[in-house]
Amino acid sequence: MKALIVYYSWSGNTRKIARLIQEITGGDIVELVPERPYPSSYRETVEQAKGEIKTGYKPPLKTKIEGVEKYDVIFLGTPNWWGTVAPPVATFLSQYDLSGKKIAPFISHGGGGKQRIVEDIKRMCPGSKVLMELAVYYDGGRDLERVVSDWVRKVLESN
Ligand SMILES: Cc1cc2nc3c(=O)[nH]c(=O)nc-3n(C[C@H](O)[C@H](O)[C@H](O)COP(=O)(O)O)c2cc1C
Repeated sequence: MKALIVYYSWSGNTRKIARLIQEITGGDIVELVPERPYPSSYRETVEQAKGEIKTGYKPPLKTKIEGVEKYDVIFLGTPNWWGTVAPPVATFLSQYDLSGKKIAPFISHGGGGKQRIVEDIKRMCPGSKVLMELAVYYDGGRDLERVVSDWVRKVLESN
């Protein structure tokens, strides 16, 4: 059965992981694109995200995904933003019914690791089985390919 890879990425690190997962699994890949892009300035994005996360704001997405029900496993990627998922990922989780599905979270972070991300995904998807996560420091450096393929293999074996 095909996997779906869904992710949001502001500066490209999560996208890099997503593309590797796509190459390894041959799954379908979808980038979440907010209707209103985040600022190109890091500092402004950090400030905007802080407010959005505090209020639970879910930014509308340009992205529409057809046939989510046909996938069994969803690889879900997000940067660590203020210890949790980026708001476009929260929008995705609120818009699609993922109950009965397996979710394998992958995270790019700047030193904080997964923080509350896995707990928050579990809370937002009470009917899904959340599989082991992958947390990568920035773009994972030279080990990225090996780390991602080891993790994908473990996820698919455990599934
Ligand atoms: C709005 C914002 C908030 C962030 N908050 C955190 C954080 O709380 N902890 C952390 O480890 N890194 C944090 N970072 C760093 C990102 O997680 C890191 O740069 C990541 O590699 C970005 O992934 P991307 O290239 O896919 O956007 C933050 C970055 C941004 C833009």
